Amino acid sequence: MAARLWCVVPAAGRGTRVGGPLPKQYLPVAGRPLIEHTLERLAAHPSIAGLMVVVAEGDDIWPTLAVPTAKPVLIAVGGAERCDSVLAGLHALPDDVGDEDFVLVHDAARPCVRAADIANLIERAGAMDGGLLGAPLRDTLKRADERQCSQATEPRDRRWRAFTPQMFRREQLVAALRAAAAAGVTVSDEAMAMERMGFAPLLVEGAEDNIKVTTATDFALAEFLLDRIHSKDALA
Ligand code: CTP
Ligand code: MG
Repeated sequence: MAARLWCVVPAAGRGTRVGGPLPKQYLPVAGRPLIEHTLERLAAHPSIAGLMVVVAEGDDIWPTLAVPTAKPVLIAVGGAERCDSVLAGLHALPDDVGDEDFVLVHDAARPCVRAADIANLIERAGAMDGGLLGAPLRDTLKRADERQCSQATEPRDRRWRAFTPQMFRREQLVAALRAAAAAGVTVSDEAMAMERMGFAPLLVEGAEDNIKVTTATDFALAEFLLDRIHSKDALA
């Protein structure tokens, strides 16, 4: 099957939880900027036709990067929140991406996503109204009070952690993100925007090592995971 899905890659965040002068997507993992790993992995996927990378206004690091791929890599300028950046990326997609076409959205900060999980998402969510990778919650879930003491134990059944990629039809996702923005709701992922419109995105279980690099300690973990995934040739 020909590669025909575009992937929007939000990369316009500042990485405040990591701290430091550079946004986290440009910090090194195994000697290369984090985002290069993510983009290379996405571009290598046979179902992905092109990448729409969403960078921050005035980003002067992006042009210095190397993304070795024959597939198109376009850029758009993002906004204040992740959902603004995703919307900007969706608008900037080439005209030959139809309103009904599915589009993937994948965080630049998730370099360890597995090719097999992407394929599984495309196959299963593509047979529905779209969906997302995630994993059922494993740990017992506590609700803390303001002193950080456990107030209650929340039910765990049917609770999932949401990952990316997430996959929805271009026009439906644009409409859902616009509706959330108009209502003043900052959605934390695409699925949340779709849920507000009455959709029930399919949760497709993926590997838990599809981590979102969030804090400084996650870099060592990402390096370890990438090394392991490469050595198992999971990219094949
Ligand atoms: N992102 C974006 N535009 C924003 C905010 C976030 O494109 N206005 C992107 C980030 O670059 C990242 C992904 O969305 O690839 C997930 O966001 P997150 O992990 O929260 O990254 P940051 O917002 O950069 O980190 P922090 O919340 O710690 O500042
Ligand atoms: Mg953030």
